[in-house]
Amino acid sequence: MKILKRLAAVWLLISTLPAARAAEPVLTIDASQAVAKSSPMLYGLMTEEINHSYDGGLYAELVQNRAFLDDSNQPAHWSVMQGNGATATIALDPAQPLNDKLPTSLRLDVSAATKNNPAGFANDGYWGIPVQPGTSYRASFYAKAANGFKGPVTVSIQSEDGAMIYAKGTVSGLTQDWKRYELTLKTGKVDPTTKARYVLTVARPGTMWFSLVSLFPPTWGNQPNGFRKDILQKLADFKPAFLRFPGGNFLEGDTVDKRFDWKQTIGPLDQRPGHRGPWGYRSTDGLGLLEFLQWCEDMGAEPLLAVYAGYNLNGDHINAGPDLQPYVQDALDEIEYVTGPVASKWGAQRAKDGHPRPFKLQYVEIGNEDWFDKTPSYDARFAQFYDAIKQAHPSLKCISSIGGEQPEAKRVRSRQPDMIDEHYYRSADTFMGDPAHFDKYDRKGPEIFVGEWAAYETPKPPWETPLTNYPPTPNMKAALGDAVWMTAMERNADLIKMQCYAPLLVNVNPGAYQWRPDMIGYDGLRSFGSPSYYAFRMFSRNYGDEILKAALDGWPITYSVTRDSKRGVIFVKLVNAQSVPQSLTLDITGVKSVKSTAQATTLAAGTEDSNSINDPVKLVPVTTKVPGIKPEFSYTLPANSITVLEIGAR
Ligand code: AHR
Repeated sequence: MKILKRLAAVWLLISTLPAARAAEPVLTIDASQAVAKSSPMLYGLMTEEINHSYDGGLYAELVQNRAFLDDSNQPAHWSVMQGNGATATIALDPAQPLNDKLPTSLRLDVSAATKNNPAGFANDGYWGIPVQPGTSYRASFYAKAANGFKGPVTVSIQSEDGAMIYAKGTVSGLTQDWKRYELTLKTGKVDPTTKARYVLTVARPGTMWFSLVSLFPPTWGNQPNGFRKDILQKLADFKPAFLRFPGGNFLEGDTVDKRFDWKQTIGPLDQRPGHRGPWGYRSTDGLGLLEFLQWCEDMGAEPLLAVYAGYNLNGDHINAGPDLQPYVQDALDEIEYVTGPVASKWGAQRAKDGHPRPFKLQYVEIGNEDWFDKTPSYDARFAQFYDAIKQAHPSLKCISSIGGEQPEAKRVRSRQPDMIDEHYYRSADTFMGDPAHFDKYDRKGPEIFVGEWAAYETPKPPWETPLTNYPPTPNMKAALGDAVWMTAMERNADLIKMQCYAPLLVNVNPGAYQWRPDMIGYDGLRSFGSPSYYAFRMFSRNYGDEILKAALDGWPITYSVTRDSKRGVIFVKLVNAQSVPQSLTLDITGVKSVKSTAQATTLAAGTEDSNSINDPVKLVPVTTKVPGIKPEFSYTLPANSITVLEIGAR
């Protein structure tokens, strides 16, 4: 019996060995010639004002409700400073506006105040005013006073309880007329905190009015109306080819007067009224059209300009024809602002606003998600925009906001769009089960822009789930789904010319966000990349100009293979979404030589793992050298991993 048992064990061993070997998938790569040229525009970014992406995010302004327009009933985010004998009131005063664009102001009435017990008002910022050590802040405001009151006004950044003054300065010389005041506040050796407020006080009784009360930390490139450095750096690190803006739903608005009306977003800040966006809060539009373009320039990316096309989120649309013509003209003017010479009307305006050099523009998207329009109005609306844009700018490519994943009846039929925009918000499992999604797409159809996509890992679509049940940024499982989807798009980058994840940015403070998952999280002081951020960055930075022929004879690895033909580098992207490591053989043919050492960049973790504001770099990709590379070699992928192999081969 013992012998029989032993024989059975030996048989089992022998029989399983070859089976285990045969189970190792083989990825064959034919590098003799490219299957297709891949799109140089493939990896880009999509952005809109959602989740406090700009106000309270990328746009570096620290004062919330700086123009007192957020709430017409009260000065939201402002509180009166009084006590210890000092008495004062604050109130909105529409009778004393700075100008017709900022149609109210804050009135401060101080009835008692002294040097030791001043009175005034304070702003609580975007979930606190962030304080950094040894930092110069640019404070500014418009003010005027009654009855010869001249000031001085003391401006400070202080702890929430006022016990600690982090930085302080004064201005004086107030008059009865509106005037802008500016000063620098410099912090010393302090511990970084967001538990601070921004305070303006006076030391004697008087009545004054304030408008556009602002505070900026140092910005990217020291631009006066600029961006937060840490967030912009994270975006620039993608090396994105384009930036799709201004939306998303932010383009459309709930109603026509709440659309992104670009002409109201340019010029001096005191000429920008801001508007209520569709995500439950008001936008200052301090990050307006020129700042979007500046942002592109800062990242070395091209704008992909979405123009308002007459559909609003409340379901209303503007009929094609004469009613729509003013909006078509707005789009033409906008394109001229972006691309026109200084001699043109809107090119001259751009120069006046500080940027004489025109921007490069190749793509214009007409509307956003017009499939939500229950009427068939988009076809005619698209046609009207298309004809006008093509007549004025024949080389511009017009993108339809209705893609091939929508029912035939919804799509544009009267014109041939240069490109169609498809949106995919799917569960990570759905993406993982659909890696061949685009493989059979008709190559005779229009080019494709996947203008919004993201994997979610929660059981239901994120917009139906109470947001507070889940962290705002995705976990590793979602990143694996994202990576599978990116291999699907990359393998088809002859057809899919551009793609971008959405939403990109999220302020992670409770109450600050309206959507999950989002790629990059932050509070006032810190920011972090989610696993999806790193997955996207691994893909966008390691990408060539050619798609190579490759085949995989076994699941469940997902792959894409591209080549940088100039550098002679093959990029192999591999996703192992299993909870166990997986070996595979890579068999490269069609090259004369293969460098013996490759480079592997790997992001691997448990599916539930993630980064967060308090644990920002728990998961990051690791880059290692891989020796012993030959035309045929075996490589083991860790469990739950995304890998980019860079193989030198000519
Ligand atoms: O990305 C969030 C929203 O999803 C966008 O505003 C909209 O275009 C889409 O429905």
